[in-house]
Amino acid sequence: MSICFENNRFHLKTRRYSYIFELTAGRYPVHLYWGRKVRDINDHPLSRLTRYDDKSFTLNEQTLDHLPLECPVFGGSDLRPGMLHLLHADGTHALDLVYKTHEILDGSKVIQGLPSARGDDAQTLVVTLEDRVSGIKADLFYTVWQDLDVIARHLRIRNEGTAHAMIEEAMSASVDFENADMDLLTLSGSWAREREPFRRSLVPGIQAVSTERGASSHQTSPFIALMSKNATERSGDVYGFALCYSGSFYAGVNVDQFGMARTMMGINPYNFAWKLQPGDAFETPECYLVYSDTGIGGMSRIYHRFIHERITSGRFASGPRPILINNWEATYFNFNEDKLLELARCAKDVGIDLFVLDDGWFGHRDSDNSSLGDWTDDLNKLPGGLRHLSDSIHELGLKFGLWVEPEMISPDSDLYRAHPDWCIHVGSRQRLESRQQLVLDLTRSDVREYIVSAISSAINRANADYIKWDMNRNISMWGASQLPADQQQELGHRYILGLYEIVDRITKAFPAILFESCSGGGGRFDLGMLTFMPQTWCSDDTDAWMRCRIESSTSLLFPPSAMGAHVSAVPNHQTGRNTPLQTRAAVAMCGTFGYELDLLKLTPEELDEIRTINTRVHAWQMLLYYGNFYRLCDPYNSNEAGWMVVSDDRSEAIVTHVYAMAYPNQKQRMLLLDGLDPDLHYLDDATGRIYGGDELMYHGYPLKTAWNDYMSQQIHLTAVK
Ligand code: DGJ
Repeated sequence: MSICFENNRFHLKTRRYSYIFELTAGRYPVHLYWGRKVRDINDHPLSRLTRYDDKSFTLNEQTLDHLPLECPVFGGSDLRPGMLHLLHADGTHALDLVYKTHEILDGSKVIQGLPSARGDDAQTLVVTLEDRVSGIKADLFYTVWQDLDVIARHLRIRNEGTAHAMIEEAMSASVDFENADMDLLTLSGSWAREREPFRRSLVPGIQAVSTERGASSHQTSPFIALMSKNATERSGDVYGFALCYSGSFYAGVNVDQFGMARTMMGINPYNFAWKLQPGDAFETPECYLVYSDTGIGGMSRIYHRFIHERITSGRFASGPRPILINNWEATYFNFNEDKLLELARCAKDVGIDLFVLDDGWFGHRDSDNSSLGDWTDDLNKLPGGLRHLSDSIHELGLKFGLWVEPEMISPDSDLYRAHPDWCIHVGSRQRLESRQQLVLDLTRSDVREYIVSAISSAINRANADYIKWDMNRNISMWGASQLPADQQQELGHRYILGLYEIVDRITKAFPAILFESCSGGGGRFDLGMLTFMPQTWCSDDTDAWMRCRIESSTSLLFPPSAMGAHVSAVPNHQTGRNTPLQTRAAVAMCGTFGYELDLLKLTPEELDEIRTINTRVHAWQMLLYYGNFYRLCDPYNSNEAGWMVVSDDRSEAIVTHVYAMAYPNQKQRMLLLDGLDPDLHYLDDATGRIYGGDELMYHGYPLKTAWNDYMSQQIHLTAVK
């Protein structure tokens, strides 16, 4: 049993950790413990409230402000920020949620309209609280994946009263840590510089990351971790929180007057409200809680395995992925069928599997100023249409993939001329364009029907094997023409519900297709999109050194199988940097591997090198994508990047190491490996040398000296008798 209930106490057990809370005085769920597995907890936070006279002390509402709570709300006597904030129809905010009942169910729970982790090998605890005066009920969900060491939390609010209520805030999870003497890890960045890690000490007050853009965003990510001060990649206590959501989110920690750290994650309450009519229910997205006592690396490996086994789905979720070539950085908008076929022939010749036609194949789109929404073939560029190109590419023995950006509309499009009201806008206010495009209003069913039909038709015409689903701007001028005034703040969440509906319908209609999600690079790289599409284009920055950083920090949460990574041309189009082909390939092997450059401009020697690289990727990809991942170096704070993947049985490993600058006359650098079996011996393919697993992990692997900038090494190790 992974969920036990005894003496008013819930004990949630995974393989390695315990999560315990209690119905104190039979009324309020009070958090007792989260950490390494324990049999029970005898201590109780109430016993530490020494300022009360112990003898006369009984639990009363005032003490809530001092206790770690499982479901803190605004409007009662807990005066800290809560996870639920309601505005009743009479304009008041009072709320007193007390325990009513609970049940323990087998399996995980499907959330209406939202993606969630799947699987029968879980147990779900539902604790129902109620506010007797208003008839509002809150169901706290805890799904425990015992073997995967993950607990999912989310909240359902039901209105069983007679008047409507406005939900002004509804977080997915809130955990009160009694000791705020910890660090907080967050990811922040920008376009082409996504997911830079930031670590800071917790201090009294609120420290948070959030996005208000309607998407999980380039600027930050729906993932945070709290960790002990001494936590490193390999050791220390780490508590991860990751949200399965693609819209505006909030993740924050409030350190209170007694040094308790309330950590909450969920839909961003800023620019959000939801009108809950009597009889209605509202569910929040799932938040995945992970505890690791083996440092940050241990947390990442728990998330990676969970993502492989419970988040991604479909035939590509655990299978090989095609090596692709994408024409974007090869041609941008400047292509025709002949040029594409020339590129495809060369791709086939060097061992590439899939040819992807990126932006510019539809309407009259010769730059980014037109045609989004008009998903009809541009016969000037493709005289025989998509089908002729696709047939020709299939005849070469390649698979064919297509780029689409379904959520957008260009003002210069037939669609906009026919339906100027289909975009998100506010009455007669100026419609603010970004990349010369507007966002379709996915809260409208007619818009969703159009997208499903137009994109399905393009996919069918293209006979596509792969789809890249892009999204290149965020929402501004928030207005949904079909929503009443008091529901306008539902737009952001309704947009995401609409998005999930269309991606669900399209991905289900085409189960044989590999879908890759994208948002101007990694602007919507989140667990929500991953449930539908097993890989995401990591960043528009394809420079090998920048990618060392971006991929390293992206791997804090996401496994290599989820990160699209391509070899591009030098000088690099984003940074102007020159890096060796070998390094560009080694770095792209930290993700789902592909190319994004004009092969026809390469020398015969470079094409030969690409043939060798592709043979290697075909042989190694299952280990590269699904192996146990260890970060070895920190490219944000050093001159090196390094990571390795190890098979489950620890008989095979691939190590990647990259130096940024070359410095002359250096001493021998020994790279400490990780995750190997200390008792085994490993053969280094390239040198024929044999090392002990213990030796490689405790003494290190002797790296070659860097003799030029951005030099890399890939070391393939196999266990020998
Ligand atoms: C942004 C994507 O990230 C790029 O890879 C490319 O597809 C462009 N959009 C096309 O407009």
